[in-house]
Amino acid sequence: MKNRSNFSSKLGFVLAAAGSAVGLGNIWRFPYLAAQYGGGTFLLIYLILAVTFGFTLMIAEIALGRKTGVSAIVAFKSLDKRFGFLGVLAVIVPVIIFPYYSVIGGWVVKYFAVFVSGGVQASAGDTYFTDFISSTTEPICWFLLFLAMAAIVVLFGVEKGIEKVSKIMMPILVVLTIIISVYGLTLDGAMEGLVYYIKPHMADVSAKTILAAMGQLFYSMSLAMGIMITYGSYMKKDNNLESSVRQIELFDTGIAFLAGLMIIPAVFAFSGGDRSALSAGPGLMFMTLPKVFASMRFGGAIGTIFFVLVFFAALTSAISLMETIVSVFMDKFGWKRRFTGIFVFILAAVMGIPSSLGFGALGFISWNGMSILDIMDFASNSVLMPIVAFFTCIFVGFIIKPKAIADEVKASDGTFTGEKMFNVMIKWIAPIFLVLILASSVASGLGWFKL
Ligand code: PFF
Repeated sequence: MKNRSNFSSKLGFVLAAAGSAVGLGNIWRFPYLAAQYGGGTFLLIYLILAVTFGFTLMIAEIALGRKTGVSAIVAFKSLDKRFGFLGVLAVIVPVIIFPYYSVIGGWVVKYFAVFVSGGVQASAGDTYFTDFISSTTEPICWFLLFLAMAAIVVLFGVEKGIEKVSKIMMPILVVLTIIISVYGLTLDGAMEGLVYYIKPHMADVSAKTILAAMGQLFYSMSLAMGIMITYGSYMKKDNNLESSVRQIELFDTGIAFLAGLMIIPAVFAFSGGDRSALSAGPGLMFMTLPKVFASMRFGGAIGTIFFVLVFFAALTSAISLMETIVSVFMDKFGWKRRFTGIFVFILAAVMGIPSSLGFGALGFISWNGMSILDIMDFASNSVLMPIVAFFTCIFVGFIIKPKAIADEVKASDGTFTGEKMFNVMIKWIAPIFLVLILASSVASGLGWFKL
């Protein structure tokens, strides 16, 4: 086993894991899903899933990593030969996510560039965003720029520096999000949006909403793709695992909630009561926030700062995605770091370009109303991640047994408050639920029925 550099403190661990977890998933993806799937209904389901499924899986993954001291690709195999396939499956997830994640990262860089050059009013125009993403070369250039920045950090091994910057940026992002939310809530019509966002309507609960919330949970907390196993492998034995998990979850969910608060009421304020604006999908943040900034005093400056902060949150997550892919390829094929980094850069560039073109030149390619980017997103979050999560539960529940994880959790101070829930969740509730969700997701994806 290689020498593992441990995080020096529990806080160091929590912040590093949060740096991976907090990203576009919280700021860009959560709000558009919440808007689309019933607001408060989605929010409530998400919160319930976070404290049950999210808690269980994150405990299992971090404990597995700390117990084995290796990354996902090896961890499962080292405990049971038959489960080597799970490490491979887990790694396919970041390979799918990283390219399209960088496409969205490119959109963020573009908006930063527009704001910094005084384009706040122009960017608030109704067709500005769709004109941009439906063009051919421009979004690809921004995508490649974002990808190159992530690649440079990974190639030159300067993650530590970036992490330091992002640790300062994250609290500022939280404060700024609160300020923008408070401002947004003062706009005409925003209160109706606030009610929509926080008030659940039980009649709206559907398999589709639960599936969307589940996929979002995995995505946002960097679960079901081996990442947390790797982070766990760096964690010290005397750090309290359970409370770290609770802190990461709280942090991640808090930021997602704030992002929704910043965006959804504003959608109501600017759409003049037209509810169809809620189903804008991946473009929601980019269509809504420029309007907020354009209506604000100092909106140009505030928007510029906002997009820089989102850029850093996105970059740290992209780096953690790329780092995972690079380290797996290095271990698997014995390649050198430089070569692997360049290889992964080219692979991601080739895979990301169709996602970028899917809103314009390749717009004719669609499946069940989904663009290429949405299809990638669906394949990773609604198909592969539930599969990886399911087998992780089976692996922990029936092969190594929950006690092995519980002992690992207790290694720091002998306590594991959520042990009972963990045991029931990992053996029974989570796997059964995951099969149901997966079956419905595949069936609806194949268009057999509308959920
Ligand atoms: N959790 C990140 C987000 O919410 O943006 C996405 C992500 C980053 C997933 C890194 C996986 C990962 F390894």
